[in-house]
Amino acid sequence: VIKRAFSTTTAKTAIKNVTVIGGGLMGSGIAQVAAQAGQNVTLVEINENLIQKAQSSITVSLGRVAKKLYKDNPEEGKTFIKNAQARIRGSTNPAEAVKEADLVIEAIIENIDLKHKLFKMLDKAAPAKTLFASNTSSLSIGEIASVTNRKDRFGGLHFFNPVPVMKLLEVVRIPETSDETYRAFMDWGKSIGKTCITCKDTPGFVVNRLLIPYKLEAFRMYERGDASFEDIDIAMKLGAGYPMGPFELSDYTGLDLSKDILEGWHKKFPDDPLFKPVPIVEKMVAEGKLGRKSGEGFYKYK
Ligand code: CAA
Repeated sequence: VIKRAFSTTTAKTAIKNVTVIGGGLMGSGIAQVAAQAGQNVTLVEINENLIQKAQSSITVSLGRVAKKLYKDNPEEGKTFIKNAQARIRGSTNPAEAVKEADLVIEAIIENIDLKHKLFKMLDKAAPAKTLFASNTSSLSIGEIASVTNRKDRFGGLHFFNPVPVMKLLEVVRIPETSDETYRAFMDWGKSIGKTCITCKDTPGFVVNRLLIPYKLEAFRMYERGDASFEDIDIAMKLGAGYPMGPFELSDYTGLDLSKDILEGWHKKFPDDPLFKPVPIVEKMVAEGKLGRKSGEGFYKYK
C-alpha cells in the first residue's frame, strides 16, 4: 500500500512567488500545496465569485490536512490553516498577477485556443526570468508553448486529483526546456512535498496514458454486459488493490473530462482502436450525468 503523507517539508527551491491561473479543482489544489510549503501564491480567476469559491474549497481541504497533521494539537492546526490562507491572494487580472512571479502554472480548461491567448498575453506581461508551466492532462506542452518566446523556460507540471493528497507530480520536458528550468521544476516539486517523475511530451504523459485506456476498457466491458459496473469496481479494488474502481474514479474526476480527453486523442489518432469513442460516456455527458460534481454519474451522490 502506498503511504499517503501530507508533507510540509520545504526542500530547497528558488521559487518564492507562484501564480496559478484557474481556480478550479486542480488550480485550487496547486495553490494550496504551494501555500502549505510557505510560498506566496496568487490565484487568478475570471471573477470575484469564482475566487471566493476556490478559497472556500481550499479552506475545507486545509481543514482535512490540518486534522491529519495536527491530530494531537488542534491549536497548531488552526495556525497552519490561517498561515496557508494568508499566503494566497486572489486576482482577476492575470497580467498584473504575473509581475512578481517566479513560476506561473496554468490550470484553465482544456482548450488550446484559450491557452494560446492566455500564454501570449502572459509572455508579454511576465518578467524574463519567470518560468511557465501548464497542468494540462491531454494537450501537447510543445503546442501550448509554441506561442511564447520562452520555450526554454516552459514545461508541463501535471498534478493529480485530489492535489493535496496525491503524491505524484509529472514533470514534462519539451525539447527546448533548458536543464536549468527542468532542475527548477524538479526542486520546486520536491519543495511542495511531491515525488517527481520525468516524462516526454507524449499524449497522456505516463499516468493518463495508462489510466484512460484502462477506464475505456472498463466502460466497454460494461457496455457489452460482461459485468455490472458495481462489480467491475469491486473487482479492481479487491482484486488489484486500486483505491477506487474505474467507474468510481470516472465519477470522481468527471465524465466530461474523460469524454474531452478521448475526443482529442481520437481526433489525433483516428485509426487507433484504443481511442474509439465510447457511446455510454457520450450519452451520460449529454444527459448531464457528469459524476460527483453534478450529483450523478454511474452512481448517485444526492
Ligand atoms: N483535500 C485534503 N485531504 C483530502 C482530500 C482533499 N481534497 N480528499 C481526501 N482527503 C483525505 C481525507 O481527509 C482522508 O484523510 P485521513 O486519512 O486523515 O482520514 C484521506 O484523504 C482519505 O480520504 P477518504 O477517507 O475520504 O477516502 P479514501 O480513503 O477513499 O481516499 C482518495 C480518497 C484519496 C481520493 C482515494 O480514493 C484515491 O486515491 N482515489 C484514486 C484517485 C486517483 O486515482 N486520482 C487520479 C485521477 S487521474 C488525475 O487526476 C489526472 C488528471 O489528469 C485528471
